[in-house]
Amino acid sequence: MSSTPHFSREIGEIAPLVLMPGDPRRAEHIARNRLDGAQLVSDVRGIGTWTGTLDGVPVTVTASGMGVPSMSIYATELFSRHGVRRICRVGTCGAFSPRVHVRDVVIASAAHTDSSVATVAVPGVTLSLAPTFDMLAAAVAQARRGSDRAVHVGSVFTSDYFYHPRTDITPELSKLGTLAVEMEAAGLYAAAARNNAEALAVLTVSDHILDHSADLTATERETMFEDALEIAVAALLA
Ligand code: HPA
Repeated sequence: MSSTPHFSREIGEIAPLVLMPGDPRRAEHIARNRLDGAQLVSDVRGIGTWTGTLDGVPVTVTASGMGVPSMSIYATELFSRHGVRRICRVGTCGAFSPRVHVRDVVIASAAHTDSSVATVAVPGVTLSLAPTFDMLAAAVAQARRGSDRAVHVGSVFTSDYFYHPRTDITPELSKLGTLAVEMEAAGLYAAAARNNAEALAVLTVSDHILDHSADLTATERETMFEDALEIAVAALLA
């Protein structure tokens, strides 16, 4: 295996298990604080990629950037060219269900999307984009074992827009039981399906679409994800 357009591998190896926040600074924070013996193995476009171990198992941490196209590039190269078997996204989302609150965790058991990734692969068919069951089951088991944090399991909306031109989309999706909006899970699930690989998204609620008074600050967004991280690690190592 060799370098790909978005990963240089001169310095080291990428592990089969990958933890993937959206934000490169969050990736660095996770690598420095959670990986043992983290080594920087790629830094293309400022997307730092570190490999170390978690409980003795080799794990790589890297960032997806924002949105389905960015996630699709990184996940596709990792799955198809770097021998990656599992990616667990550990990111943020905006809740729109009234029963989900800022700082809660959402495990995305399905991802609706307005991105073309659900519709271009098979003409005339809208794919159901979903995570790998074993990872989902391990994440739910860890959530039930663990924290004081409220953890919700359900569908999310992977949007092509942070600033969506239509205001009627999230209320309609909320009526269908969708919990929150984010911008990458469907791209990850589609790339995993296409490459016969495994994936899950575990999301910390950083803001609430119906009430912005309790939204996380930019600094909190970088650090307030410890519970989601432990759930993601359990899913990755399961
Ligand atoms: N919209 C889209 N993606 C997000 C949001 C949001 O409100 N919050 C965190 N990721």
